[in-house]
Amino acid sequence: MRSFAASESRPHDAGSLDEAEVLVIGGTSGFGYEVAKQTLARGAHVTIVGRSQTRLESALAGLRSPGAASDRTISGRALDATAPGALRTLFADLDNVDHVISTLGGAMGGGFMDNSDAAILGAVNGKFEAGLSVAKAAAGHMREGGSITLTAGSGGHPYDASGAVVGNTAVELLVQGLAVEMAPKIRVNAIAPFWTPTGLWRDLPADELKRQTEAVASSVPLKRVARVEEVAAAYLFAMECGYFTGQTLHIDGGVSALG
Ligand SMILES: NC(=O)c1ccc[n+]([C@@H]2O[C@H](COP(=O)([O-])OP(=O)(O)OC[C@H]3O[C@@H](n4cnc5c(N)ncnc54)[C@H](OP(=O)(O)O)[C@@H]3O)[C@@H](O)[C@H]2O)c1
Repeated sequence: MRSFAASESRPHDAGSLDEAEVLVIGGTSGFGYEVAKQTLARGAHVTIVGRSQTRLESALAGLRSPGAASDRTISGRALDATAPGALRTLFADLDNVDHVISTLGGAMGGGFMDNSDAAILGAVNGKFEAGLSVAKAAAGHMREGGSITLTAGSGGHPYDASGAVVGNTAVELLVQGLAVEMAPKIRVNAIAPFWTPTGLWRDLPADELKRQTEAVASSVPLKRVARVEEVAAAYLFAMECGYFTGQTLHIDGGVSALG
């Protein structure tokens, strides 16, 4: 993995991704991979992180392919960001990061009574503790004017997506607190996607994935699921808009508006 060059002065406009140093934790698949791709296309230097070495290598190969990012820097690191000390070790090698993206978190269905405490708390902590750890580990290694963007989620109810809903709500509150505490140096936001076909669902059989995609599409006001590119664009907005902090952007086809 490359270390971002030590420099006191910002080499680029704070509102631009050109020459920005961007770290995407969860950048080897799904939303994070697409964020890395779009960010590279804007001229940033990008480091991606994921647990699987195989997925990392495949992502790096995709991002380096001709026409994608041939003249830009892309590097990566395979590690479990939730392992004790892993994020601090990661950031120890990085200084002057402009933007940190985290897609850490999972999915969970069912209510509070029909899931084990461990499953519920695992879903909550997979979001809240992970996001908190990212912010604390990143704080001393970021350049003024930078941003942290975490991943929450839209849709679901406490009775049918218990731990996920608590975790996503916790992330929304977390970014509000962090935004005030880290201002004016760093902006902190979250993106809240709704159900989208990504690597999160790679273990579903193809017919079940198709069934779920159709069922989700019919429940959304826009009557389709999101494209990964549409969700990734929201992360880029959060990085680029210098007056945007403490917010959660719901990229959900109108699901939140259903109440
Ligand atoms: N897709 C949806 O339907 C949906 C809906 C609402 C919210 N979300 C949220 O979106 C996020 C998932 O993103 P996605 O849908 O794009 O899923 P994805 O395609 O599975 O991507 C997840 C990325 O995170 C990496 N990752 C996971 N756990 C990690 C860990 N402990 N340490 C380091 N890297 C890790 C994965 O690589 P490895 O697997 O190799 O580690 C991969 O690069 C979650 O926060 C989820 O709650 C997704």
